Amino acid sequence: MLSDAFRARIPGVRCLVAFTGAGMSAESGVSTFRGEDGIWQKFKPEELASFDAFIRNPSLVWEWYAHRKKVLSSVEPNPGHLALANMETLFPEVHVITQNIDNLHRRAGSQRVHELHGNLQRNYCIDCRNPVSNEGLDLDAGAPRCRQCGGLIRPDVIWFGELLPLDAWDRSIEACRRADLFLSIGTSGVVYPAATLPGISRGAGAYVVEINPEYTALSDFVDETILGKSGEILPEVVRLMKIELRK
Ligand code: OAD
Repeated sequence: MLSDAFRARIPGVRCLVAFTGAGMSAESGVSTFRGEDGIWQKFKPEELASFDAFIRNPSLVWEWYAHRKKVLSSVEPNPGHLALANMETLFPEVHVITQNIDNLHRRAGSQRVHELHGNLQRNYCIDCRNPVSNEGLDLDAGAPRCRQCGGLIRPDVIWFGELLPLDAWDRSIEACRRADLFLSIGTSGVVYPAATLPGISRGAGAYVVEINPEYTALSDFVDETILGKSGEILPEVVRLMKIELRK
């Protein structure tokens, strides 16, 4: 499954970056955004995932995120998430840069997780910025208000038109520049600026491997694509990495 070029890189890897998208969590039962059963086939992003939409109709937006919060509380990390966490035992430095907001990388045990699009576990007040966790929120009671200032509470996720969190972005760029091996996993590679990261890393010398059941917008710009599901491919990649490292 691993090409000779991929295998040859493994013993020299000091810094590995895994860049993940919704496909990473598909085998946990979390819907992707695009494709036949994708979330954006059923819902319009501009009605649910923008600050304007939230201000226009906070209860509707909350109902949607409350639903997603409930879905996420019932899913588990899959073998792909666990394989990435396992890579931390093989290489000195492993970063997971994720577009996902489902917290599954942290739950799987990954230590250096950079969340580019936020995390559905967290919320904050749009007026005083007070952070609010999911515990203590009644998910069936419409849009919650801040206990300190009465402002609207929003989920701590990035909506269309919003800037990415600067600290997570800076740490991601830094890791991409240092990476020897870059794995782009389960992302269609069409949402920017996140989709620039594989190119930045490759330009800085990393060997870039894509793992996806289909070719994507990134495929022409990577060193190789392994076609398949991340929950099946990544455990096998770990097994083969261990063999290469033992040689
Ligand atoms: P997409 O839904 O655009 O793409 C999901 C990718 O996962 C597709 O390329 C699928 O082929 C692939 N895929 C499906 N099942 C898979 C599996 N089992 N293993 C591996 N890959 C699989 O999701 P993203 O690229 O994550 O942004 O979308 C990027 C951003 O667009 C999201 O973070 C979200 C969305 O709008 C925000 O909410 C800000």
